[in-house]
Amino acid sequence: MKQRDTWKSKLGIILAVAGSAIGLGNFLRFPVQAAQNGGGAFMIPYFISLLLIGIPLMWVEWTIGRFGGGFGHGTAPGIFHNMWAKNRFIKYFGVIGIFGPLVIFIYYTYIESWTLAYAFFSLVGKFGQTTDQKGMLSLLKGFQGIEQNDFFSSIRCAYIFFLITFAVNTYIIYKGISGGIEKLCNIAMPVLFACGIIIAVRVLTLGAPNLLNPDWNILNGLGYLWNPDLSSLRDAKVWLAAAGQILFTLSVGIGVILTYASYLKKTDDVVLSGLTAASTNEFAEVILGSSIIIPAAFAFFGPREIGEIAKGGAFNLGFVTMPLIFQKIALSAFFGSIWFILLFLAGITSSVSLAQPSIAFLEDEFNIPKKKAVIIFGIASFILCQPAIFFLKNGVVNELDFWGGTFCLVLFAAVETILFAWIFGMEKAWEEIHRGADMKLPRIYKFIIKYVTPLFLILILMAWSYQQGIPILLMKGMANSDKPYILGIRLMLILVFLVLGILVKIAWQKRKNTKK
Ligand code: ALA
Repeated sequence: MKQRDTWKSKLGIILAVAGSAIGLGNFLRFPVQAAQNGGGAFMIPYFISLLLIGIPLMWVEWTIGRFGGGFGHGTAPGIFHNMWAKNRFIKYFGVIGIFGPLVIFIYYTYIESWTLAYAFFSLVGKFGQTTDQKGMLSLLKGFQGIEQNDFFSSIRCAYIFFLITFAVNTYIIYKGISGGIEKLCNIAMPVLFACGIIIAVRVLTLGAPNLLNPDWNILNGLGYLWNPDLSSLRDAKVWLAAAGQILFTLSVGIGVILTYASYLKKTDDVVLSGLTAASTNEFAEVILGSSIIIPAAFAFFGPREIGEIAKGGAFNLGFVTMPLIFQKIALSAFFGSIWFILLFLAGITSSVSLAQPSIAFLEDEFNIPKKKAVIIFGIASFILCQPAIFFLKNGVVNELDFWGGTFCLVLFAAVETILFAWIFGMEKAWEEIHRGADMKLPRIYKFIIKYVTPLFLILILMAWSYQQGIPILLMKGMANSDKPYILGIRLMLILVFLVLGILVKIAWQKRKNTKK
């Protein structure tokens, strides 16, 4: 069997998994989800989902990844095949574990490039050109090429930052697991935490910055986010949002953690390491993520406006409101750039993980050398990124996010848990989880992984398909002018999925022929 890459240290892989998990989701998506779904009450379904699906899936993915790595497979087709060798089709389900992260990668990298651009704009004082929400929103739209205005006459600037971001991502993946990703995370993660703590402390010490409205203060801002509206718990939407946030933020159900874990040694611990990575993510999300944008926006703009801004989407608070807030405080260039550097580091440590399954697939299943695999991936993903850049205004990114970042995630999580607990078998699974473990899992988790996690995931999948999937599939409420773009993107996704499926078929055929 070919020698595969390995992690240099235990801390290295924990930081890499935490890096994959801590992303734009923690700082932009989480606070807005919480504020829109019952405030403090959101944390009840959130923590229940963490305990019943998030953490169990962490252990499942670390375990099956390490198991597959032992057979030289770092992606779901090969791993699933080894877990259920008798079934000829299961490897095709594994395609979701390469397809999903690839789809997320192609829009995530673009959004990540905005954070780099905005860090630069903070440093050079670009935001000084406007002083209100309307102006800042125009700046964002001009930058994204959605409209031509006084701030930007074309998408050129955004494209340059995209090229830089894409090149940095490719360079890191090119350097490999220990030489690229591990090194990046060893440096980026402590810096990210330092930036997060600096910004959170600055925001929490703002007091009541709006002299005309002393009630608009940080304490009330925290109350706005945390005061529980218990009646919201009767709404299924709130439960779905919480479960979805847990999957997205922990990067479970995507397919990336299995690939990272496939570079572990057979007796490396997965129990404590998985738990540590998950806890690190939760600290970044619940403590840091909730201490920044919502309280700051509340203190400057008050409850009515914050609701309006948040309705415009998670990005508006991060890219429109935050630059305005930093403008109003001392050392604005410093705090503004720290905020966007924080987002950039959170983004890049996630995007490199999203690329890794495709690379590992080419390396493991086709024996393609790493550097060549990265070049193939680079060219293919670069082409696939283009619609997200040029047709953003037509809803292409939302569409990619629904299929890659929502639907595939729940589907993949359900398939892998059922496979692990029911086909591979819970006794064997329990033994596999504990191989080389630094701590023993409470026995209740045997029951949870076997019954509760799969059931919970199936329920989410059904409720989601019904509530969101069908209207999205039928393009309900979509402008007629956007429909051709959405259909085009769906065609692209189907083609990508088919190509991956055919590649799996070819790889297995080749292996069969060499065995003969
Ligand atoms: N887990 C990553 C995030 O939160 C994808 O952004």
